[in-house]
Amino acid sequence: MREKVREMWPELDLIKDNQLRDKVLDTWVLALEQSPLTIEDLYNIPFTLLIKDCKVSFISHKRAVVHIAYESAKIMIEFFGENLPIDLDIVVSGAILADVGKMLEYEKIDGKIVVSKTGRYLRHPFTGVSLARTCGIPDEICHIIAAHAKEGDLVIRSTEAFIVHHADFMSFLPLKNVNI
Ligand SMILES: [Fe+2]
Repeated sequence: MREKVREMWPELDLIKDNQLRDKVLDTWVLALEQSPLTIEDLYNIPFTLLIKDCKVSFISHKRAVVHIAYESAKIMIEFFGENLPIDLDIVVSGAILADVGKMLEYEKIDGKIVVSKTGRYLRHPFTGVSLARTCGIPDEICHIIAAHAKEGDLVIRSTEAFIVHHADFMSFLPLKNVNI
């Protein structure tokens, strides 16, 4: 399982801190151990149930978000320097973990992905934080998981959380409009 998760997430190598990288990997392994979904499902299922007939796979979307967040953060560091401190390890870890809770939000019934009972009561920002804290993920990164989606509009996002939130939404909203 661990090796398969590592293969699914080549972006783990962008995390410089070895201990943090291991904890991020641990969180995904724990989530998949508790999930009704398999790793193979993540290459096939749509990344969201909110878009009808969405053809973009879960993992394609998640990996795109990590790259968009990482590249945006590097550009902001280049142009804003010490006027806007940004921790790249926090950005990348937060982007990799933002949707880890979806492993508990979905289930497969007759081959179709639907919202699970857990998902009806706890959306993925909540289950994601729970999984991440179990694996020792620091609060700055749990904050990104908690605040990356609409729930985060109610809190003051950190700079790293803003970056991941926008990377996530800029690769979600346009796809939502493709078939309109
Ligand atoms: Fe999300």
